[in-house]
Amino acid sequence: MTATEPLSGSPAPAAPGRTLNLTLRVWRQAGPDAPGAFEDYDAPGISVDMSFLEMLDVVNERLVEQSREPITFDHDCREGICGTCSLMINGRPHGPQRGTATCQLHMRKFADGDTIVIEPWRAEAFPVVRDLAVDRGAFDRIVEAGGYITVNSGSAPDANLIPIPKSVADAAFDAAACIGCGACVAACPNGAAQLFTSAKLAHLNLLPQGQAERYKRTEAMVDTMEELFGSCTNHGECEAACPKEIPIDFIALLNKDYLRAKLKNRRYLSRKP
Ligand code: SF4
Ligand code: FES
Repeated sequence: MTATEPLSGSPAPAAPGRTLNLTLRVWRQAGPDAPGAFEDYDAPGISVDMSFLEMLDVVNERLVEQSREPITFDHDCREGICGTCSLMINGRPHGPQRGTATCQLHMRKFADGDTIVIEPWRAEAFPVVRDLAVDRGAFDRIVEAGGYITVNSGSAPDANLIPIPKSVADAAFDAAACIGCGACVAACPNGAAQLFTSAKLAHLNLLPQGQAERYKRTEAMVDTMEELFGSCTNHGECEAACPKEIPIDFIALLNKDYLRAKLKNRRYLSRKP
């Protein structure tokens, strides 16, 4: 279906500011194996103060009022924390505002009369579940491979008793800001997951608590990543798309630790009887 379909059933919520009349070109796909296609929807009376997801809520309410199938999309916290929201907006992961997740993008970033193209993440490792929702379980496989500390590092006050240089704590915190959204993979022409994996490695590998399993963790997570995702060729699109502005410097740390892991883990293996 490509014809524009008016969706003017119920008015948008009270709009203190301007309103926009938009056309949404949305990817609809009934299931993982169903063929997908773009469908156009008129979306009149959208307040510029709405978030992008609130705008989709309004469109879905109108679809339901017309007994039509609402658009499936992922969301949870709606405050840039959980990493669940995942929309390709006008060809850019999370849309036009740098360092901003879809749920924190506001409609004031768009102009009256705009046509907005909305797609799911496009990556082989993230198959479409339905419409705009994809399965990001491949990220879970990487974390399961080693993205944790098995020793008891104590309660939060105990952990804080371990002296950690400010610069190290800051770098680990920057890495821990990764919300696992997958925009880096969707932006990468190779569908690579280096930025995500490097962030998940760095927030543990930089801290004292993460040292005991540093190289075991690194080898397991990187090898799992290589099985499921494409390879990095330093395009840098991941950093530009990341809503948490994770720097690609962490990929350099990943590569350094992986090289060391290959040597150290081999040496440990050779010590076994
Ligand atoms: S590195 Fe950035 S883009 Fe990639 S999953 Fe983490 S927060 Fe999302
Ligand atoms: S819905 Fe949680 S980060 Fe967007």
